[in-house]
Amino acid sequence: MSTATLTYQLGDRQVPRMGYGAMQLAGKGVFGPPADEARALQVLRDAIESGVRHIDTSDFYGPHITNQLIKKALHPYPHDLCIVTKVGAVRNSKGGWLPAFSAEDLTRAVEDNLRNLGLEVLDVVNLRSMYDVHQPAEGTLDEQLEALAALRDKGLIRHIGLSNVTAKQVVDAQKITPIACVQNLYNLVNRKDEALIDQLAVQEIAYVPFFPLGGFTPLQNNRLNEVAQSLGATSMQVALAWLLQRSPNILLIPGTSSPQHLQENLAAAELKIPAEALETLNQIGAAQ
Ligand SMILES: NC(=O)c1ccc[n+]([C@@H]2O[C@H](COP(=O)([O-])OP(=O)(O)OC[C@H]3O[C@@H](n4cnc5c(N)ncnc54)[C@H](OP(=O)(O)O)[C@@H]3O)[C@@H](O)[C@H]2O)c1
Repeated sequence: MSTATLTYQLGDRQVPRMGYGAMQLAGKGVFGPPADEARALQVLRDAIESGVRHIDTSDFYGPHITNQLIKKALHPYPHDLCIVTKVGAVRNSKGGWLPAFSAEDLTRAVEDNLRNLGLEVLDVVNLRSMYDVHQPAEGTLDEQLEALAALRDKGLIRHIGLSNVTAKQVVDAQKITPIACVQNLYNLVNRKDEALIDQLAVQEIAYVPFFPLGGFTPLQNNRLNEVAQSLGATSMQVALAWLLQRSPNILLIPGTSSPQHLQENLAAAELKIPAEALETLNQIGAAQ
């Protein structure tokens, strides 16, 4: 069976493991509109036509722009599309990222997401921890999760997830609400979440790595390039295929503003990395 046909549970749905991350559709610095709106809309429509059924977004991309593009390109949505958004931050007038963590902030963020996406209920809402904007940092999320659980009980959210969190925060969160997915930084060279991925796999909870290709500066590694050449694939495709082979609970949301890169990324779901090449790739992260 090809990897492309494999799915995993995300909220109420089984989604193909290769999804799409919409953050790159906003302007430079994830701020303001895209340079080429028609191209952004095309990427979204191509993704759906090619079978993507998991789109990751947030109302703080742009802000508002990414959600508005998704609505413009895809509404009314396919019945089996899972749109995952996140709350917990806002942007200032210069594009800076600020925590927005009060119950009122979270309620406003959910309402903004609903309006800008044109939805009556959000499939999955990730609470993005902002104790440290760049990396997971300990701190209670109880009040924020209770606020989101209340919005779920009001029927505005179906499922709650977490982003930029520690393993302890996941355990603590599960005392308040079921957690549908965890979205943290993880890729071939950033492997701090190895134990958390395995722990979530046992619980059958999706792990969704952000920056799967390295983020704003895509991964550059000689051994990755050599493996890619030997497999007749691009380095980005190998980086994605490696994640798919890492654990069955990993769902991918590579970001791109390019129709061509989108197709390359989707094709990575067909790539099977042989054992020897896998071992070489595994050593890249282990050496960090
Ligand atoms: N929870 C969080 O805190 C958080 C943080 C960051 C991101 N995210 C989510 O994670 C998703 C993925 O992260 P990301 O988009 O920032 O980073 P990424 O997927 O690791 O990489 C995106 C970068 O790779 C380039 N790229 C994509 N496909 C390529 C290909 N086939 N060949 C060469 N270059 C390629 C893109 O440029 P082009 O546009 O030119 O293709 C872009 O510069 C985001 O869309 C967002 O939804 C979440």
